[in-house]
Amino acid sequence: MKKNYERYKSLTSKDCDKKTLMYYLCRVPSDRRIVPLLSKIRSKRVLDVGLGSGHYTKIFIEQNEVVGVDRNPHLCRLPIKVHSGDATELSKLVGEKQFDVVISTWLTEYLTTDQLEKFFSEAKKVLGNNGLLMTTVISTRGMGFLYIKLAKIVKGIDKYNYTKSVAVTKIKEAGFADVEIIDLDSWFGFPWAYMVVAR
Ligand SMILES: C[S@@+](CC[C@H](N)C(=O)[O-])C[C@H]1O[C@@H](n2cnc3c(N)ncnc32)[C@H](O)[C@@H]1O
Repeated sequence: MKKNYERYKSLTSKDCDKKTLMYYLCRVPSDRRIVPLLSKIRSKRVLDVGLGSGHYTKIFIEQNEVVGVDRNPHLCRLPIKVHSGDATELSKLVGEKQFDVVISTWLTEYLTTDQLEKFFSEAKKVLGNNGLLMTTVISTRGMGFLYIKLAKIVKGIDKYNYTKSVAVTKIKEAGFADVEIIDLDSWFGFPWAYMVVAR
Protein backbone atom coordinates (compact mmCIF):
# COMPACT_ATOMS: atom_id res chain seq x y z
CA MET A 1 0.00 0.00 0.00
CA LYS A 2 1.21 3.51 -0.81
CA LYS A 3 2.49 5.33 2.28
CA ASN A 4 1.59 8.95 2.98
CA TYR A 5 5.10 10.27 2.70
CA GLU A 6 5.46 8.75 -0.78
CA ARG A 7 3.43 11.58 -2.29
CA TYR A 8 6.38 13.85 -1.43
CA LYS A 9 8.67 11.82 -3.70
CA SER A 10 7.50 13.64 -6.82
CA LEU A 11 7.53 17.06 -5.14
CA THR A 12 10.32 19.62 -5.18
CA SER A 13 11.29 22.00 -2.38
CA LYS A 14 9.49 24.76 -4.38
CA ASP A 15 6.24 22.73 -4.32
CA CYS A 16 6.57 22.37 -0.53
CA ASP A 17 6.88 26.11 -0.09
CA LYS A 18 3.73 26.89 -2.13
CA LYS A 19 1.33 29.06 -0.20
CA THR A 20 -2.04 27.26 -0.20
CA LEU A 21 -5.29 28.23 1.52
CA MET A 22 -4.26 26.04 4.49
CA TYR A 23 -1.04 28.03 4.70
CA TYR A 24 -2.96 31.26 5.27
CA LEU A 25 -5.65 29.71 7.46
CA CYS A 26 -3.44 27.61 9.72
CA ARG A 27 0.31 28.01 9.20
CA VAL A 28 0.36 31.82 9.30
CA PRO A 29 -1.46 32.10 12.66
CA SER A 30 0.41 29.17 14.25
CA ASP A 31 3.77 30.51 13.03
CA ARG A 32 3.21 33.48 15.33
CA ARG A 33 3.85 31.03 18.21
CA ILE A 34 6.27 28.60 16.53
CA VAL A 35 8.76 31.07 15.04
CA PRO A 36 9.58 32.87 18.33
CA LEU A 37 9.98 29.48 20.10
CA LEU A 38 12.39 28.16 17.48
CA SER A 39 14.31 31.45 17.27
CA LYS A 40 15.29 31.07 20.93
CA ILE A 41 17.27 27.86 20.30
CA ARG A 42 20.98 28.70 20.50
CA SER A 43 24.23 26.67 20.57
CA LYS A 44 22.44 23.31 20.57
CA ARG A 45 22.78 20.05 18.67
CA VAL A 46 19.41 19.90 16.89
CA LEU A 47 17.81 16.99 15.03
CA ASP A 48 15.01 18.19 12.72
CA VAL A 49 12.82 15.21 11.85
CA GLY A 50 10.69 15.43 8.69
CA LEU A 51 12.26 18.78 7.87
CA GLY A 52 10.98 18.83 4.27
CA SER A 53 12.31 21.90 2.45
CA GLY A 54 13.55 23.33 5.77
CA HIS A 55 10.90 26.05 6.11
CA TYR A 56 11.50 26.18 9.91
CA THR A 57 15.06 24.82 9.89
CA LYS A 58 16.19 28.11 8.34
CA ILE A 59 15.23 29.88 11.57
CA PHE A 60 17.72 28.04 13.79
CA ILE A 61 20.35 26.76 11.33
CA GLU A 62 22.79 29.65 11.88
CA GLN A 63 22.99 29.47 15.68
CA ASN A 64 23.01 25.68 16.10
CA GLU A 65 24.52 22.44 14.84
CA VAL A 66 21.65 20.98 12.82
CA VAL A 67 21.11 17.52 11.30
CA GLY A 68 17.95 16.45 9.47
CA VAL A 69 16.00 13.24 8.91
CA ASP A 70 13.41 12.83 6.18
CA ARG A 71 11.86 10.10 4.07
CA ASN A 72 12.35 12.53 1.17
CA PRO A 73 15.74 14.17 1.74
CA HIS A 74 15.77 15.60 -1.80
CA LEU A 75 13.32 18.27 -0.60
CA CYS A 76 15.95 19.96 1.57
CA ARG A 77 18.26 22.45 -0.14
CA LEU A 78 20.00 23.61 3.04
CA PRO A 79 23.72 22.92 3.58
CA ILE A 80 23.25 20.35 6.35
CA LYS A 81 23.46 16.57 6.65
CA VAL A 82 20.03 15.01 6.04
CA HIS A 83 19.64 11.30 6.79
CA SER A 84 17.30 9.53 4.42
CA GLY A 85 14.99 7.47 6.60
CA ASP A 86 12.06 7.15 8.92
CA ALA A 87 11.13 9.02 12.09
CA THR A 88 10.64 5.62 13.75
CA GLU A 89 14.30 4.63 13.38
CA LEU A 90 16.23 7.70 14.48
CA SER A 91 18.81 5.88 16.62
CA LYS A 92 19.70 3.60 13.70
CA LEU A 93 20.08 6.59 11.38
CA VAL A 94 22.21 8.84 13.60
CA GLY A 95 24.25 6.11 15.31
CA GLU A 96 25.95 7.12 18.56
CA LYS A 97 25.29 10.83 18.07
CA GLN A 98 23.26 12.55 20.79
CA PHE A 99 21.22 15.75 20.47
CA ASP A 100 20.04 18.52 22.78
CA VAL A 101 16.81 19.15 20.87
CA VAL A 102 14.63 17.02 18.57
CA ILE A 103 12.21 19.15 16.53
CA SER A 104 9.42 18.00 14.28
CA THR A 105 7.01 20.39 12.61
CA TRP A 106 3.97 19.07 10.77
CA LEU A 107 5.25 15.50 10.76
CA THR A 108 3.12 13.67 13.34
CA GLU A 109 0.03 13.89 11.09
CA TYR A 110 1.80 11.31 8.91
CA LEU A 111 2.28 8.89 11.79
CA THR A 112 -0.13 6.17 12.90
CA THR A 113 -0.44 5.57 16.65
CA ASP A 114 2.23 2.83 16.51
CA GLN A 115 4.58 5.04 14.53
CA LEU A 116 3.94 7.98 16.86
CA GLU A 117 4.91 5.83 19.87
CA LYS A 118 8.08 4.67 18.09
CA PHE A 119 8.96 8.23 17.06
CA PHE A 120 8.66 9.46 20.67
CA SER A 121 10.76 6.60 22.07
CA GLU A 122 13.38 7.03 19.34
CA ALA A 123 13.50 10.78 20.05
CA LYS A 124 14.12 9.96 23.72
CA LYS A 125 16.96 7.58 22.73
CA VAL A 126 18.83 10.17 20.65
CA LEU A 127 18.40 12.96 23.18
CA GLY A 128 21.09 13.43 25.79
CA ASN A 129 20.32 14.07 29.47
CA ASN A 130 17.72 16.80 29.84
CA GLY A 131 17.18 16.84 26.04
CA LEU A 132 14.12 18.59 24.67
CA LEU A 133 11.51 17.25 22.24
CA MET A 134 9.43 19.88 20.43
CA THR A 135 6.74 18.52 18.15
CA THR A 136 3.56 19.84 16.56
CA VAL A 137 0.41 17.72 16.66
CA ILE A 138 -2.81 18.41 14.72
CA SER A 139 -5.81 18.95 16.98
CA THR A 140 -8.86 16.70 16.93
CA ARG A 141 -10.98 19.86 17.11
CA GLY A 142 -11.83 22.81 14.84
CA MET A 143 -9.59 23.28 11.81
CA GLY A 144 -7.54 20.23 12.84
CA PHE A 145 -10.61 18.01 12.62
CA LEU A 146 -11.60 19.50 9.23
CA TYR A 147 -8.06 19.23 7.85
CA ILE A 148 -7.81 15.50 8.59
CA LYS A 149 -11.31 14.79 7.27
CA LEU A 150 -10.77 16.82 4.07
CA ALA A 151 -7.39 15.15 3.40
CA LYS A 152 -9.26 11.83 3.33
CA ILE A 153 -12.37 12.97 1.44
CA VAL A 154 -10.73 15.27 -1.14
CA LYS A 155 -7.29 13.68 -1.62
CA GLY A 156 -7.82 10.15 -0.29
CA ILE A 157 -4.88 10.58 2.10
CA ASP A 158 -4.83 9.10 5.60
CA LYS A 159 -3.56 11.66 8.06
CA TYR A 160 -3.72 11.51 11.84
CA ASN A 161 -4.64 13.88 14.64
CA TYR A 162 -4.37 13.19 18.36
CA THR A 163 -5.98 14.56 21.49
CA LYS A 164 -3.66 16.31 23.91
CA SER A 165 -4.21 13.59 26.49
CA VAL A 166 -3.21 10.84 24.03
CA ALA A 167 -0.08 12.77 22.96
CA VAL A 168 0.92 13.48 26.58
CA THR A 169 0.35 9.86 27.63
CA LYS A 170 2.44 8.52 24.75
CA ILE A 171 5.22 11.04 25.39
CA LYS A 172 5.36 10.10 29.07
CA GLU A 173 5.35 6.40 28.19
CA ALA A 174 8.42 7.12 26.02
CA GLY A 175 10.23 8.35 29.14
CA PHE A 176 9.74 12.12 29.12
CA ALA A 177 8.84 13.52 32.54
CA ASP A 178 7.93 17.18 32.03
CA VAL A 179 5.44 17.94 29.29
CA GLU A 180 4.16 21.36 28.30
CA ILE A 181 1.46 22.06 25.71
CA ILE A 182 1.39 25.26 23.67
CA ASP A 183 -1.80 25.87 21.68
CA LEU A 184 -1.31 26.72 18.02
CA ASP A 185 -4.71 28.13 17.21
CA SER A 186 -5.95 29.30 13.85
CA TRP A 187 -7.52 32.77 13.54
CA PHE A 188 -9.97 33.92 16.23
CA GLY A 189 -8.80 31.17 18.61
CA PHE A 190 -10.25 28.40 16.44
CA PRO A 191 -8.40 25.15 17.37
CA TRP A 192 -5.91 23.86 14.78
CA ALA A 193 -2.89 22.22 16.41
CA TYR A 194 -0.63 22.32 19.44
CA MET A 195 3.06 22.04 20.18
CA VAL A 196 4.29 19.53 22.74
CA VAL A 197 7.48 20.51 24.50
CA ALA A 198 8.85 17.65 26.61
CA ARG A 199 12.01 16.84 28.51
C1 LIG B 1 4.27 18.58 5.80
S1 LIG B 1 5.98 18.26 5.52
C2 LIG B 1 6.69 19.25 6.82
C3 LIG B 1 8.02 19.79 6.44
C4 LIG B 1 8.64 20.75 7.45
N1 LIG B 1 8.87 20.12 8.73
C5 LIG B 1 7.76 21.97 7.63
O1 LIG B 1 7.17 22.14 8.71
O2 LIG B 1 7.65 22.76 6.67
C6 LIG B 1 6.19 16.60 6.12
C7 LIG B 1 7.58 16.05 5.89
O3 LIG B 1 7.71 14.85 6.66
C8 LIG B 1 8.30 13.84 5.86
N2 LIG B 1 7.83 12.55 6.41
C9 LIG B 1 6.57 12.06 6.39
N3 LIG B 1 6.51 10.88 7.04
C10 LIG B 1 7.76 10.64 7.49
C11 LIG B 1 8.34 9.60 8.25
N4 LIG B 1 7.61 8.56 8.68
N5 LIG B 1 9.67 9.66 8.55
C12 LIG B 1 10.43 10.71 8.12
N6 LIG B 1 9.94 11.73 7.39
C13 LIG B 1 8.62 11.70 7.09
C14 LIG B 1 7.86 14.13 4.44
O4 LIG B 1 8.75 13.56 3.51
C15 LIG B 1 7.88 15.66 4.45
O5 LIG B 1 9.13 16.16 4.09
